[in-house]
Amino acid sequence: MDTVIARIDPSNPDPGMISRAGGIIRSGGLVAFPTETVYGLGGDALSGDSSRAIYAAKGRPSDNPLIVHIADMKSLGRIVKSVPDKAYALAEKFWPGPLTMIMDKSDEVPYATTGGLDTVAVRFPSDPVAQAFIRAAGGYVAAPSANLSGKPSPTSGKYVVEDMDGRIDMILYGDDSVIGLESTIVDLTGTSPVILRPGYITLEMLRSVLPDVSVDTALLADDDKTPPKAPGMKYRHYAPKGDLVIVEGERPEVIQYITDKLVADASLGKRTGVIASTQTASSYKADVVLDMGDASDHDEIARRLFGLLREMDDEEVDSIYSEAVSGEGVAAAIMNRLLKAAGHNIVVLGDIQT
Ligand code: TXA
Ligand code: MG
Repeated sequence: MDTVIARIDPSNPDPGMISRAGGIIRSGGLVAFPTETVYGLGGDALSGDSSRAIYAAKGRPSDNPLIVHIADMKSLGRIVKSVPDKAYALAEKFWPGPLTMIMDKSDEVPYATTGGLDTVAVRFPSDPVAQAFIRAAGGYVAAPSANLSGKPSPTSGKYVVEDMDGRIDMILYGDDSVIGLESTIVDLTGTSPVILRPGYITLEMLRSVLPDVSVDTALLADDDKTPPKAPGMKYRHYAPKGDLVIVEGERPEVIQYITDKLVADASLGKRTGVIASTQTASSYKADVVLDMGDASDHDEIARRLFGLLREMDDEEVDSIYSEAVSGEGVAAAIMNRLLKAAGHNIVVLGDIQT
């Protein structure tokens, strides 16, 4: 299939391109589009055939439900059984934005979109290109992240082209994603709200609106064995081709530990890589050293992380060490993605207070 790659200026999106993209969705096709979190791979959320086409293009198991993207609050009623008061409260504060809410689905949403579940995940993104596209598409766009299954979510149009060129009808190629991590997912179908996936909207932020929000225990477990409630989290997540180890501890000890490992790995003929903060990057001698950003600037680290993991794959590194990121909030979401990528392979040095 020929994929139309359309450059889009986010400050002045070409209406012709947007309506062409919307038309593709209305007639059953697939379009990748930018959002503030990561790029999405969109299809008509109310068409089972479109959702099946999304799974096929991604190479993703079809029991892994998709997020339905809307572009105004009044669209919500049609796809959920009823809008819980808690959803209004969270929407008031965090929509449009990087928050996905799970609610009971209406009959209009096909089971192909929800992976057979009676619930539906809904997000109202803030990205202006995403919003214009969703409106042009008829108001309901089902979209997982626009990566091939087994790759990190794409945070730049160039990664979408890498993964999806030839597999979908069109790519709306805008700016790099400003957040860089997938949305926070909160489940509103139980007695109290539960975070199923951490993200830019943190536990603390959600609790400022709804004090009874908690975190899915499967996310807190330090292994992959407790079954998660978000079906997507049970699948083997992205892992780099090389072995990834996360190293946590006081800065000098972390540098010493990684340096010793690099020497040992190099002597075995391995190609080595380090993901380090701006403050420490120059301390390492490895084949590839990538700067994740200022150690205290978690927003910057979030924005860069998935791109760095792709670079390590492109560089064919065998053995990768990443410094841990410490702190609450976005740092917790970054560590969640890093731990998954590393298969929970983390070395904790010394006596760490957590
Ligand atoms: O930021 C994002 O959320 C991006 C952009 C494109 O919006 N999308 C994204 O979609 O990350 P995806 O498909 O890669 O991740 C969706 C996650 C999966 O883990 C899936 O299992 C979970 O949401 N999910 C979707 N519907 C669900 C439901 N009804 N119940 C529980 N989990 C659900
Ligand atoms: Mg994904």
